Amino acid sequence: MSGITFTMIKPDAVGKGHTGAIIDMIIKAGFRIVAMKLTKLPAEKAGEFYAVHKARPFYGELVEFMSSGPIVAAVLEKENAVADFRKLIGATDPAKADPGTIRKLYAASVGENAIHGSDSDENAEIESNFFFSKLESF
Ligand code: RTP
Ligand code: MG
Repeated sequence: MSGITFTMIKPDAVGKGHTGAIIDMIIKAGFRIVAMKLTKLPAEKAGEFYAVHKARPFYGELVEFMSSGPIVAAVLEKENAVADFRKLIGATDPAKADPGTIRKLYAASVGENAIHGSDSDENAEIESNFFFSKLESF
């Protein structure tokens, strides 16, 4: 069954010039880019996006980091998109990520870990709509 996931290339990876290499990996892994933009999140928007983590000790740092520089937001389509994309990006902590994953290659730490991937079909939809409108027309 075809599905979508949502991703952000985070400020650390964009700032280090890894955007092109990461997009190349995403395409080569069989994802179709449905929508994509380079943007910068105001702290308020970053806080809203990660609101589910509000009570966690790292929330403040996370919001500060995610609003610290440009990000690339995208909607990706593929069969089994959510699970396959989580596999491609690797574990949250790059030290625990499998070899060849995006986080293993490009992330420095659990806090600054290069890329986001939705964790469920429901959140993929919510997160896509957070950044893009009228997705159904693509
Ligand atoms: P993401 O949502 O960004 O794709 O990451 P994830 O599912 O792998 O991890 P999640 O538990 O949703 O955490 C969201 C983001 O919060 C930051 N984090 N920092 N310092 C810490 O212990 C810590 N734990 C999580 C990371 O940037 C993580 O991606
Ligand atoms: Mg998550």
